Amino acid sequence: MCGVVGYVGKNNAIPILINGLSKLEYRGYDSAGVAVFDCGKIKICKTKGRIQNLQDKLFVNPLKGKIGIGHTRWATHGIPSYRNAHPQFSDDSKIAVVHNGIIENYMAIKEELEQKGYNFISETDTESVAHLIDYYYKSGMDILDAVFKTVERIEGSYALGIICRDFPNQLIAARKDSPLVIGIGKEENFIASDMPAILNYTRDVYLIDDNEVALLTADEIKIFDQNKNEIKKEVFKVDWDIEAAEKSGYDHFMLKEIFEQPKVVKENLSRRFKEDDSGVQLDTIKLDKKELLDIGQIYIVACGTAYYAGLVGKYLIERVARIPVNSELASEFRYKQPLIDEKTLVIVVSQSGETADTLAAMRLAKANGARVLGVVNAVGSSIAREADDVLYTLAGPEIAVASTKAFSAQVTAMFLLTLHIAMELDKISHDEFLTIKNEMENLPSLVNNILTKAPVIKRFMQKYINSKNVFYIGRGLDYIVSMEGSLKLKEIAYLHSEPYAAGELKHGPIALIEESTLVIGVVTQEELFEKTVSNIREVKARGAKVLAIAMKGNREIEKYADDVFYIPRTHWMLAPLLANIPQQLFAYYVALGLGNDVDKPRNLAKSVTVE
Ligand code: G6P
Repeated sequence: MCGVVGYVGKNNAIPILINGLSKLEYRGYDSAGVAVFDCGKIKICKTKGRIQNLQDKLFVNPLKGKIGIGHTRWATHGIPSYRNAHPQFSDDSKIAVVHNGIIENYMAIKEELEQKGYNFISETDTESVAHLIDYYYKSGMDILDAVFKTVERIEGSYALGIICRDFPNQLIAARKDSPLVIGIGKEENFIASDMPAILNYTRDVYLIDDNEVALLTADEIKIFDQNKNEIKKEVFKVDWDIEAAEKSGYDHFMLKEIFEQPKVVKENLSRRFKEDDSGVQLDTIKLDKKELLDIGQIYIVACGTAYYAGLVGKYLIERVARIPVNSELASEFRYKQPLIDEKTLVIVVSQSGETADTLAAMRLAKANGARVLGVVNAVGSSIAREADDVLYTLAGPEIAVASTKAFSAQVTAMFLLTLHIAMELDKISHDEFLTIKNEMENLPSLVNNILTKAPVIKRFMQKYINSKNVFYIGRGLDYIVSMEGSLKLKEIAYLHSEPYAAGELKHGPIALIEESTLVIGVVTQEELFEKTVSNIREVKARGAKVLAIAMKGNREIEKYADDVFYIPRTHWMLAPLLANIPQQLFAYYVALGLGNDVDKPRNLAKSVTVE
């Protein structure tokens, strides 16, 4: 979603802001802009479309200044346009604001300010913030008080970057429910909505919490709580290497991230089995037999790809550890008045740790006394900080909007959780544990093996790229894999695709099958093989083309499918991780073949920080 960057220091802010914004492109946006303090005035340059358009504009009309703010906007209030792009100005261009999030009561503020003579130019909620600060400032408050008064009035979520014409050396930032970090430099300081924007300049950051306001100059950073008391924060050291946020020779971040999966899975397994082979060690998380017996119910809550990883968790914990698990979309969870109490364990799964719905679901769970376990990738993110326990998924920064390595990492975490709970509750024997553990330790090399077959998937893409509709079908775990495969194809190839529990086809969707339909049949689960094959035969009989994903050695499927991609043999419960890899590659190559922007698909955002 939107990205915020800000700079104050001794250098020209423009290249730093542009560099920062380009590192946030992955979050998804449809317009961009910057404002700097230049020759006694705040000057703005903004445009609809890509950052390249902004750079082209700046090339023709260069701006310069030692303090500035920048923004990539993902439209919520008003269409993507010059007028609606940020920064937004107050009436007489005294104050410029960039904002992530949504101001829910902006209409009321707008009406109030219009009555006082303020003139609104954009359709954005953000403009009301610029005018409101201006109003309080002009009514006699100092600028910091005006910001405090404004954030007290606004409802909703925000990460704000603010500059004022009367203070050419200071940058103000504020946060509520939308991520914001402050980068600590030497004679220069930064603000950003996400780490990659400032990693070229510093690894030392302050993580700003809700309701805090910060005042930055080149030499000083002051952070205040909501009562305007100055507070001291610990410096957080970002330990990613820069390459982790670069393409490193790959054509796209997505491809790079797909190929990073063997490393990511390995990293997730490392040090997570007890040295004496007696079970799983989930970092510092205890969740031992006594605690588990105390838990009345488990929820797994997440959005998007993370939700599907959670579904794998639900399936496995129920089937292997034999305890019931509710799996919920975070965007639905809150509105169904879930039955949560102190005996509830809520597992929230999130790559970014900032997804608004997931965060809100977690807060609701905590408010009702539940214990929250975060399965999170982004270190220092809101979910990671607020959860009672965190199991990090150690995938490193994921930049491509379509999630790939994060899913594999989350699914690996679900395998570990399942094994841990099953062992603690004596639901599997030690021998079974060792068998699964050994198979898990093979996963990185099995993923690698699949990746070497990427050219095979590319050939399938050439054959099936003109399919009009794509169905992904499977049963049990294969059905969950189908959901993730279908999501990937929608996200980046913009092809209409639907996942279906294979047995449900007959109850309606089979009416849609025709000759131009591609059916991707996931058939890795031996015990369900015959059943899914029957469904494959039904769609074949109606003219569909079938591409199957099956476990190596299962040659029978060749009789029924037009093409088969074999994944290496593994334990049944680990198959989702492997079966998903060819689906990722298929979506990638189809998107590429259709000429789409793989890393920045239309309308989507990497981190959805609005509800
Ligand atoms: C967005 C992203 C998806 C992601 C989902 C949940 O829709 O585009 O890739 O799965 O949000 O994000 P989270 O960061 O909570 O895992």
